[in-house]
Amino acid sequence: MLHRKSSFCKCPAAFASPSRFFVRWRVMTFTQHHSTAQLDDHPRRRYYSGGNLDRVQSIEDLRARTHRLMPRLVLEYLEGGSGEEATLARERAAFADWRFVPHTLVDEHDRSVARDILGREAAMPLLIAPTGLNGIMRRHADIALAQGAASAGVPFVQSTMSNERMEDVAKVKGLRHWWQLYVFGGNEIWQSLVDRAHDAGCEALVLTTNSQIFGQREWYARTRMNQTMPSVPTVLNAAAHPRWIATTLNRGMPDFANVIDYIPKDKRGFFQSAFWIRSQMPKTLSWDHVARIRDRWKRPFFLKGLLHPHDIRRAMESGVDGVILGSHGGRQGDWTVSALDMLPTAREIVGDSMALYMSGGIRRGTDILKAVALGADAVLAGRAPLYGLCAAGADGVAKALDLLRAEMMNELGQMGAKSMDSLNPDILVRARDLPLQLPKSAVGGQG
Ligand SMILES: Cc1cc2nc3c(=O)[nH]c(=O)nc-3n(C[C@H](O)[C@H](O)[C@H](O)COP(=O)(O)O)c2cc1C
Repeated sequence: MLHRKSSFCKCPAAFASPSRFFVRWRVMTFTQHHSTAQLDDHPRRRYYSGGNLDRVQSIEDLRARTHRLMPRLVLEYLEGGSGEEATLARERAAFADWRFVPHTLVDEHDRSVARDILGREAAMPLLIAPTGLNGIMRRHADIALAQGAASAGVPFVQSTMSNERMEDVAKVKGLRHWWQLYVFGGNEIWQSLVDRAHDAGCEALVLTTNSQIFGQREWYARTRMNQTMPSVPTVLNAAAHPRWIATTLNRGMPDFANVIDYIPKDKRGFFQSAFWIRSQMPKTLSWDHVARIRDRWKRPFFLKGLLHPHDIRRAMESGVDGVILGSHGGRQGDWTVSALDMLPTAREIVGDSMALYMSGGIRRGTDILKAVALGADAVLAGRAPLYGLCAAGADGVAKALDLLRAEMMNELGQMGAKSMDSLNPDILVRARDLPLQLPKSAVGGQG
């Protein structure tokens, strides 16, 4: 997943000094792109991995810079999935199963990708997904994500496992702040987090339902000697990333600022805390918890991590305001369907009765258009804004969101559609059903 095949340049200048050799090798290893537009890999194509955001063309460029700047420990945490990473792969592949059938000769001059999220206009139907441990990517990462979201006009969902106090994140100007809840430990912990989220002005609460048993993320585990100690190669690799050390670890490892007080004093180291919290997640999380949280939290309440139609029906009866389909970015159960696979069925089930969001694999504006056309009210993006964060902090997050929005605007026009509400499944066809065999009546044939 992390490595692309190296085709190291034979140019003698590359060998001129060991440091030049090293820099060149790293840049080329991580930034190559292969496509049908090339003949035998020619012309040689590389993603832009430099620091000038004006030159960044797509999320893949931000990802290339992320791979250049971040040590292996961070990359395996950020990129990796569980088990064979089959769910992770499906989350991207599911988008490739769908092709647009565009309209043309449509007046496109006043098209818009804006959409209502909880009754307020957002710049596009997207939220920054909750992600934990962001503090190992950059210091004050959660503030940077919140600033990027606020400047792009979309909500930010802060994770229970974030590294910045929710009260501090709430101070970001113009932010639409949501809180993601993990239930762990005794009831008093979730109750206090819910009350704090209320007092901090969070607009909505998201209960993550599919992470009580931690996914088998074996590639991430391979970076450590044991639960709490990185392996020697991991430490050496981290030491070779001075810029990461300077922007991230200048004041030591981050902590889990929102829950640190609940963690026993001798387990407050970074890795110890993470494992302790995981060990405290009740395996009995149930619809009963959902009812109790619903009782306490009076603002919009979402369940995250559902895929099975039965659970979606059950969610409707539980009084929540919406569901977020997803598989935790391929980090929990392996070999599951992706959220996109389940969208049409989920929309059929929920009708207009509650909000339907999805997360998993969003890297392009076209991904968001496909998700909306298949029934999503909005999508959550996890890694895409994180690549922006790793590449350039809050500016990088804003750039990632701008790119997605600009791609959506362009592609919406290319499809001959004018607004999010005008998208529906008619504009898509499953690649496996091509070539299309329509009945003559459907194309207005004369017989
Ligand atoms: C690094 C990382 C950390 C995550 N941490 C959390 C978390 O703390 N809580 C949560 O509900 N989901 C978490 N997720 C899942 C995301 O909210 C989201 O569902 C997923 O990233 C979507 O897939 P994408 O990364 O392809 O956009 C995490 C995902 C990643 C990549």
